[in-house]
Amino acid sequence: MLDLTGTSALSRSGISSANQIFSDSDRPKILVVDDHPASRMTAGALLSADGYEVFEAENGIEALALVFESQPDLILLDVMMPEMDGFEVCRHLKENEHTRLIPVVFITALNDRRSRLMGIEAGGDDFLSKPFDRLELSARVKSLVRQKRLNEDLDHAEQVLFSIARAIESRDPNTGDHCERLVAMGKAFGEYIQLSRAEIRNLMWGGYLHDIGKVGIPDGVLLKKGSFTPEEREIMNRHVIIGENICKPLRTMRGVVPIIRYHHERWDGSGYPEGLVGDEIPYLAQVFQIIDIYDALTSERPYKRAFTPEEALEIIAEETSRGWRNPKLVEQFTNFIKAGMMVGDRAQG
Ligand SMILES: [Fe+2]
Repeated sequence: MLDLTGTSALSRSGISSANQIFSDSDRPKILVVDDHPASRMTAGALLSADGYEVFEAENGIEALALVFESQPDLILLDVMMPEMDGFEVCRHLKENEHTRLIPVVFITALNDRRSRLMGIEAGGDDFLSKPFDRLELSARVKSLVRQKRLNEDLDHAEQVLFSIARAIESRDPNTGDHCERLVAMGKAFGEYIQLSRAEIRNLMWGGYLHDIGKVGIPDGVLLKKGSFTPEEREIMNRHVIIGENICKPLRTMRGVVPIIRYHHERWDGSGYPEGLVGDEIPYLAQVFQIIDIYDALTSERPYKRAFTPEEALEIIAEETSRGWRNPKLVEQFTNFIKAGMMVGDRAQG
């Protein structure tokens, strides 16, 4: 007979229940999707006894509606269902930004290899066979829910970083919508020079996060009007190291950190923080720097008017002949801007 008290089998097995891991207000929610009422009831009873809040849906369409309404922490999904089968439900969930992190456990018949392969292809996270082994169900659900919460924390950590970056931008009257423009131009120029998707993403994130280290620069320096003393310049230059330290602990920031650390290096070694020369400077940092400078030149700042694209390209060319930028990359960027200007001219004409 089933033990539905939620204590004996689990405590004997040494597996802790959801009650022991999560607080009451934070009770994980599980959605059980199965067209057989008896199966739903069995899974529901086992999971409720483990301390989870359980929702049930009897088909794929109802399941999708419930997912958006109740935001479950895990879905137990039957494969064979009328109208929309489990694979299709899973594909919908994994394609959607808001539901892709919810683990999906397919319920298949024992040794149904074909369903398992299709389940993997649809993006499923795990499999369980009917009839349920109670301890296996508890262990898998617990570990997947825990993993999902960790993933969410990671997503939230990224959100926090982007919020800090925005706060810094609004604190600095010099910048306006600088970051938004860098993100847009990073995407466009990245595609133009055929960077990979991951590189383009890093370039775009760099647009938001490159100056996040300014959070550690005192107002007296950051907001100073007029030129810096050598000491103030040195303090301001620290923003690249502070930014690196903020973002480094996050695995998803790995490709962005070189942009943050090295976006003020110069091709001839006269930049900071390390004075790297030529291709010692990470490539994405070189790409980002040109976009950053171009946007600064073509935007109005309290101390200067906005230069026209032609003027900005001239200044960048002059800096390149002085040895500050990668000539090949500057040539590509110049062509990219000129191609855009021609498109703009045609659109206006
Ligand atoms: Fe910077």
